[in-house]
Amino acid sequence: MTAGAAQSRDMAARASGQPILAIRGLKRRFGGIVAANDVNLEVRRGEIVGLIGPNGSGKSTLFNLVSGMFKPDSGQILFNGTDIAGMKAHRIARLGLARTFQIPALFENMTVTENLLAAAAEGQWDGAHERAEVAMQLLTLEAVRDNRAIDLSGGQQKLLEFGRIIMRRALLILLDEVTAGVHPNIRKIILDAIVKLRDEGATFFLIEHDMELVRSVCDRIIVMDAGQVITTGTFDEIARDSQVMQAYLGRRA
Ligand SMILES: Nc1ncnc2c1ncn2[C@@H]1O[C@H](COP(=O)(O)OP(=O)(O)OP(=O)(O)O)[C@@H](O)[C@H]1O
Ligand SMILES: [Mg+2]
Repeated sequence: MTAGAAQSRDMAARASGQPILAIRGLKRRFGGIVAANDVNLEVRRGEIVGLIGPNGSGKSTLFNLVSGMFKPDSGQILFNGTDIAGMKAHRIARLGLARTFQIPALFENMTVTENLLAAAAEGQWDGAHERAEVAMQLLTLEAVRDNRAIDLSGGQQKLLEFGRIIMRRALLILLDEVTAGVHPNIRKIILDAIVKLRDEGATFFLIEHDMELVRSVCDRIIVMDAGQVITTGTFDEIARDSQVMQAYLGRRA
């Protein structure tokens, strides 16, 4: 499907009030470990949803299944109305899904500007040069616009990876611990950009260990433990939930 077709399909889906992401009965096993054990969840359009849970609870596996890095054993992943379960990663990306990686995926020998323009070419090209200017301003990358990605600081590389997502104009953006280990200034820039993009129509699903960040930006939180969704709610609701506390303390109910 072309980006234009994906966009008109999105308009129709928005009108029907359909969730942007609906996962049903998703399973994936690695040998004896069931990393996704009948996962069911929904992300609605325009939401910022946080995904939390103890180490090894299956959060990154879920993102890998949604983005097409892994194939599920069974289950359905409806993205903007299309079942993408088992589809190849590049096809899912073309339908309007973007994700970040723990180690930023950049064109190392290309400049900041070139990296941004290349991302627009992968997603939506219209207005690319103007949009690259806006992204560089938003992410404070103007001073290093002609520097090669490989010569940037780690924090600037994270900002550039985020800029590439902005340029793609994705419908749904998956962020896996995007602010882990970055300076508070850069974290603030990324958080402000998330809120701004959401206000412009993007939807975010983000894995995060920092509860302060989760509290400040997420509309809703989904909690996983041992490959399953154990609860969903606002930050205050889940903070009162004893099952969640048990999951974090590593005890079983
Ligand atoms: N490619 C793989 N091969 C084998 N086992 C895997 C693979 N990917 C994940 N697992 C296993 O699946 C389980 C869930 O791992 P996952 O990385 O999804 O957890 P997580 O919730 O993201 O944890 P963390 O908070 O530490 O990042 C773990 O037991 C992990 O060892
Ligand atoms: Mg993980």
